[in-house]
Amino acid sequence: MLPTDIGRHGRPTGNCLMRIVCVVGARPNFVKIAPIVGALRAEPLATVDLVHTGQHYDIDMNQVFFEDLGIPVPDVSLGVGSGSHTQQTAAVMQAFEPLLAGRPDLVMVVGDVNSTLAAALVAAKEGIPVAHVEAGLRSFDRTMPEEINRVLTDQLATLLFTTEHSAGRHLETEGIGADRVHFVGNVMIDSLLKSIARAVPAEVTLGRDLPAAGFALLTLHRPANVDDPEVLDRLIGAFTTLARDLLVVFAVHPRTAGRLAESGRRERLEEAGVRCLPPQSYFQILGLMRAARFVMTDSGGIQEETTALGVPCLTLRPGTERPVTVEEGTNTIVDRDPARILAAADDILTTGGKRGRIPELWDGRTAERIVEVLRRWWHSQHG
Ligand code: UD1
Repeated sequence: MLPTDIGRHGRPTGNCLMRIVCVVGARPNFVKIAPIVGALRAEPLATVDLVHTGQHYDIDMNQVFFEDLGIPVPDVSLGVGSGSHTQQTAAVMQAFEPLLAGRPDLVMVVGDVNSTLAAALVAAKEGIPVAHVEAGLRSFDRTMPEEINRVLTDQLATLLFTTEHSAGRHLETEGIGADRVHFVGNVMIDSLLKSIARAVPAEVTLGRDLPAAGFALLTLHRPANVDDPEVLDRLIGAFTTLARDLLVVFAVHPRTAGRLAESGRRERLEEAGVRCLPPQSYFQILGLMRAARFVMTDSGGIQEETTALGVPCLTLRPGTERPVTVEEGTNTIVDRDPARILAAADDILTTGGKRGRIPELWDGRTAERIVEVLRRWWHSQHG
């Protein structure tokens, strides 16, 4: 039976600890919540309950990240699993609602996955304030499920924490008062800076026969890239062409693995010399990113991580909701166009590519700043 009061640490008598429920569901959430839970638990400000919705559940998408990032075992696991967007969102909502019977003081959600929106919606309907970490990012592409999740979560949130200045501008345009918005930097980079010394060297992951020319790292999982056979086949054409000149290492997401298993796609990639790997642990992917000549990706988090590492990134989407990675960082948008991908790859191999600079407040201290804002918010209400 599900507990009906996840404020199970209780409110110790005689003091005024805030009770916060942090919600995670999918792999990128884990990287974002780790420093926040760490910073909160190091302070006498709040009690923290961690809820895992179960959106991601495979060991290598889930447990391995908890271990690498040192995230405590969730206090509650909802086990919702996979499904259509509606099924998944509804399943999280139904399972999460009874947990709020203990009326925590704040529900904290991160990122833009279905679990983020579902938890925010339940909390808002229960009249419990929501804090959204990584607020205000916009692709302006409503065909992306994440865009819907972002826009709606931001409307529901009381406290909005942003990673870059573009986010604050979007929130202002959408009528969200500046008093609710806090530019704090990027918690993903807190995790990266804390973990980089423990990154698994690429030679350990890939073996010692790594070519002297190095390799390009590839990740791909957006429905717009992998669920449309025509788009996917065109992208595969670009990767197999590139593999003639440079080893391509492809960390394959489970969604993508399903598509590669169809129509001989995985065989085509492997025959061309693309090395397909299962989803990598956090320490492994950090080691691969750091060592790569460049990274090709449709992930939002990897666009940011490559900027923090100073490694050139080619984004396989028409745009990015993280423009600071292009304007200041190492990111170049190449869309799904093989000619642009190959030309940009060639340019990086010739010139070394963009080096970029570290965006403002991506300094490893974002979680501390979030805790400070929470402290002020709490004291403004409770003296
Ligand atoms: C989700 C997020 C996306 C995020 C990505 C990171 C939404 C709308 N999308 O996409 O923003 O970038 O996570 O990975 O929330 N599967 C497994 N094992 C798992 C999890 C999923 O095999 O542990 C398979 C299932 O077949 C599932 C498919 O992957 O149907 C897609 O999983 P889902 O969580 O629905 O979306 P992602 O593509 O992972």
